[in-house]
Amino acid sequence: MWSCWRWSMIWTRVAIKSEDYSSRSSPLSSPPLNLRPSELRRTAHRRKRRLSNSRPPASLTPVQSTIQKSHPRLSSSILQKNLSKPISWSSGNQILRQGPEAEMVAGRYSPPWFSVAPMMECTDNHYRTLARLISKHAWLYTEMLAAETIVYQKDNLDRFLAFSPDQHPIVLQIGGNNLDNIAKAIELANPYGYDEINLNCGCPSPKVAGHGCFGVRLMLDPKFVAEAMSVIAANTDAPVSVKCRIGVDDHDSYNELCDFIYKVSSLSPTKHFIIHSRKALLNGISPAENRTIPPLKYEYFYALMRDFPDLRFTINGGINTVDEVNAALKLGAHGVMMGRSAYQNPWRTLGHVDTAIYGAPSSGITRRQVLEQYQVYGDSVLGRYGNKPNIRDVVKPLLHLFYTDPGNGPWKRKADAAFQHCKTIKSFFDETLVAIPDYVLDAPVAEPPSGREDLFANTLSLMPHPYENRDQKVVLEA
Ligand SMILES: Cc1cc2nc3c(=O)[nH]c(=O)nc-3n(C[C@H](O)[C@H](O)[C@H](O)COP(=O)(O)O)c2cc1C
Repeated sequence: MWSCWRWSMIWTRVAIKSEDYSSRSSPLSSPPLNLRPSELRRTAHRRKRRLSNSRPPASLTPVQSTIQKSHPRLSSSILQKNLSKPISWSSGNQILRQGPEAEMVAGRYSPPWFSVAPMMECTDNHYRTLARLISKHAWLYTEMLAAETIVYQKDNLDRFLAFSPDQHPIVLQIGGNNLDNIAKAIELANPYGYDEINLNCGCPSPKVAGHGCFGVRLMLDPKFVAEAMSVIAANTDAPVSVKCRIGVDDHDSYNELCDFIYKVSSLSPTKHFIIHSRKALLNGISPAENRTIPPLKYEYFYALMRDFPDLRFTINGGINTVDEVNAALKLGAHGVMMGRSAYQNPWRTLGHVDTAIYGAPSSGITRRQVLEQYQVYGDSVLGRYGNKPNIRDVVKPLLHLFYTDPGNGPWKRKADAAFQHCKTIKSFFDETLVAIPDYVLDAPVAEPPSGREDLFANTLSLMPHPYENRDQKVVLEA
């Protein structure tokens, strides 16, 4: 049983976090972020001051215009305030975090316009190290870690939770359905300094959503999700978020999705939702099929943005290039999360994130330089936990680095042989990289693949009717 004191602590936090959460303007209209941290801080400060001066608001994004049509009582300036405050994810941290750490989070990181999705057995420390060498600005998610794993491995936490400081901004995703274990897991994770804690409400794997009864199954119990999020928030100073689907099985109407978002956000401090824009089917199809068979409905995502203007939404699912990321942002999304493409083609996706999404100047880095730095990392971690990680573990994320490039096939064949006997990453590289031509190794990232122009073509016209429940109406009319 929770004591009254504990609940009152939770609700105090709800009040503080809700009050401070706000949105951003489209990155395409923002100044380029080719700035040093101190300059970034000054720019954010200047932009905040600019906004508070009574200048006429800039034009509305497509989603803002739709919100205004559905809720004519909302003035443009309120919409601007809700949807267009500048870089402010860190401002939640600013209030809640104290001392130098607060300063660091508030000033150092770019906004989460682009993030790499949590992917089990993919976004481990090794992949994240590679990703960070290629993009300095992307937000990185861990693989989902079950709360129980953290609790039961409490004498072995580094293996699951430690990461190099370079990996900031980094979000810890946890899974679970036991409030005590969730609370303990968050307490144990706190010293590691994750920048956000995310709860998995989207995984359809039978082990997780079936047997384990968490992941996407939690979408059927929004009150529990709200409790879990309150517990998480009560045990950490980091912002909290939920990653979910747009529905489960027959519970796939837009209204049911809104009920979930409404309950979770009003009963807990959750103000950020990552929406994998397809539903999950728990009728026996595999997790991989659950990422392809249910159709993507981006119109639900943008309708959520229209109907919950005080919340922050990151779109996910089927977005494969930086062009497509920018198209989603231009339509008003607060952030875009990329999964499979960022893993399967890291060079051509992440290689453009800093320049094309964050407006930073090109670093001109080459894959030879990436691999040189990765080698230092790899050789320093080999065997850190007994026989783990081994060469295969450390090299695994590199196997997609030359995707479709000359030499890729022979390189992979050499890698297979080298796995049998190489003892260091250096010797592995010495033996295998001869298969990759120098001009490939030494070239900076080429032009990004162009995005599908029609990806969001009819999204706004397909948006479902606005969601209004009684509670929300009272708020809007107040
Ligand atoms: C191999 C793999 C593992 C995944 N593991 C997780 C996970 O641990 N937590 C989670 O929320 N989603 C997980 N996902 C789903 C992704 O985060 C993402 O929602 C999904 O792949 C859709 O995005 P995409 O179309 O950009 O790949 C996983 C996806 C893949 C391909």
